[in-house]
Amino acid sequence: MPTTSPTPATPTSPTPMSYTPPTPHPFLGTVYHRGGAHTPSLRRGYQACRRATRRTGEIEYPLSLLLPPPLRLAAWALYGAVRTVDDLADADPHDTDAPHRLDAWITACEEDLRQGHSTDPVRQALIHTLLTWNLQPAFLHTLFEQLRQDTAGRRFATWREWQRYNRLINTPLVLRTASLVMRATGVPFEPEVLAAGLPGVEEAWQQVVDALYLTDALVDLADDLTRGHVPLPDEALDEAEVSRTDLLERRHTPAFARMVDHLTDRATAGFRHLPALPALHPAISTALTAYADLYRLRLLRVKAAHTTLLHTTPRLRRRDVHRVLAPARAKAAIAWSLFPLPVRPAPLPTPARVEGLTEKVRTYAARQQPITRPTPHPSGVRPPRLPAEAMPRHVAIIMDGNGRWATARGLPRTEGHRAGANAVTDVVHGAVEIGLENLTLYMFSTENWKRPADEIQALMYEIPACVQRLLDDSLPLDIRVRWAGLPGGLPADVRETLTEVEQATRHCTGLTLTACVNYGGRAELTFAARQLTEDALAGKVEPSQISEHLLAQYLHVPELPDVDLLLRTGGDQRVSNFLPWQAAYAELVFVDTCWPDIDRRDLWRAIEQYAGRTRRYGSVPRQPQPPADVKAPARS
Ligand code: IPE
Ligand code: IPE
Ligand code: MG
Repeated sequence: MPTTSPTPATPTSPTPMSYTPPTPHPFLGTVYHRGGAHTPSLRRGYQACRRATRRTGEIEYPLSLLLPPPLRLAAWALYGAVRTVDDLADADPHDTDAPHRLDAWITACEEDLRQGHSTDPVRQALIHTLLTWNLQPAFLHTLFEQLRQDTAGRRFATWREWQRYNRLINTPLVLRTASLVMRATGVPFEPEVLAAGLPGVEEAWQQVVDALYLTDALVDLADDLTRGHVPLPDEALDEAEVSRTDLLERRHTPAFARMVDHLTDRATAGFRHLPALPALHPAISTALTAYADLYRLRLLRVKAAHTTLLHTTPRLRRRDVHRVLAPARAKAAIAWSLFPLPVRPAPLPTPARVEGLTEKVRTYAARQQPITRPTPHPSGVRPPRLPAEAMPRHVAIIMDGNGRWATARGLPRTEGHRAGANAVTDVVHGAVEIGLENLTLYMFSTENWKRPADEIQALMYEIPACVQRLLDDSLPLDIRVRWAGLPGGLPADVRETLTEVEQATRHCTGLTLTACVNYGGRAELTFAARQLTEDALAGKVEPSQISEHLLAQYLHVPELPDVDLLLRTGGDQRVSNFLPWQAAYAELVFVDTCWPDIDRRDLWRAIEQYAGRTRRYGSVPRQPQPPADVKAPARS
């Protein structure tokens, strides 16, 4: 689904022979509803994305109609949002304001992605899709960065450069869309992982994708030349002995005709063998075949265009598109009815769920439930008695080893995360029993997004479930739950659960339990630096007044005290981007036991170990004072 050319294409008005996309489904409201777009503003966003897709995607839009509503909305949001930003940059070269408009949109979008919401309808739809399907926005950052650079013009010297650019800017969008579709249709792999596991498939797909880009470059040639841009590498021109000046001046030469013939043959060869992916849903295979067929038709239109290619954009003919799409739609409809979409997008938090939580809080308050003692460990063992000054004030735990625990038992890694959630309950009870003030748990790091999609999905289920269970314990045990981490990227229901539980327990004064979810130490410090800079620029902070104390006020949970004891389970001895600011002077304890096998006794043992340590903070150990009657040795 290539979308962007270095200088974005202006949608040209269709010629009388051109293909007009079909009118939308008459029950568009139902499509939005089934796709989870429940609020009017979100619908407006998806509508705008649909319009942009329809206007500019003569292949992509009709193909989107082969998808069931939730996936169709996602395809519109991704494609439509990218076309919207393309359109912003799409101005005549004399419009000096265009780069600023593009920059402003991208900057606002990046901020919205960080915040996880937007007031702009298109960005709202985009963020809704990312959150609903748990897509990481990193590919957008790359794309935006390239678009920004493109405003200064871009020229490719070699095919390699041209390929690299396309793979950098267009392939990630294709891959993330494919990832979304695959996961939604029950294939728990990222497309890269699936392709890498099948010999030859990755290269074969790359050939198809290069053929798509080449076809689009030829289709967009007239538009690009209008902007003084040649969408092909110099190497292609040299091979065909086409002069760049002739091309920019739209001079039709025999060399140009030969080049077009050669390039269309090259692209056609790329489409010859569509590599089979065995695990695909039959409707998706149908859509992919139709996609390639439409591209072949597009190439035929390019070939037929001859001299006009320098001046007009070749368009598909309605009857050709219909010939491909009609049977594809019938096949896809049968396939979807036989094998319905197995994975639904996460539902938006409904008022009922939120009320449910509030109701829980209200019930506790109404009952004026007394603070209870934690359930003792089944063995009956009691916590060690330690002098108050030997107790750490803040214990932070890297709960590692879930995956290895599961693998060692022949189970999927996701089972390890489920088992790990039980260990959390026991350790929290143990922390209350021993009288700890602060316990911080590393539940999901900003780096953990690199894991396979099915594992992330399982974690995004386990984490809110675990936090909900903590709420059940928190109110009677007087535990205050806090969340440290970035909202951007987390599915809406996870964010909602974390903020609701934070809210529900804000009056509790016993143990403070900080859940680090989507937490990264560097991200936290970067975020703090950005906020602090903004305040400094706004004149609220005097740079000379910036102290360690002031900077700490900008961290996710400013009240979090320094970590005294940092415990890592699972045998590895590293800190993995966990609390670099707060744990600067922490005592480190590493245990080999994997997290699911940990219980409160391990926490207590680590605390005992801590109690035996000498902390110096850069100073020297205190010398024991000699008794008063012992004289210091005389100096000679
Ligand atoms: C820790 O266990 C849990 C999270 C990172 C979410 P792992 O899943 O890292 O387990 P190992 O280290 O692969 O065994
Ligand atoms: C750290 O564990 C993150 C959490 C426990 C949430 P990882 O398993 O992600 O750390 P590395 O990758 O081994 O450093
Ligand atoms: Mg690990």
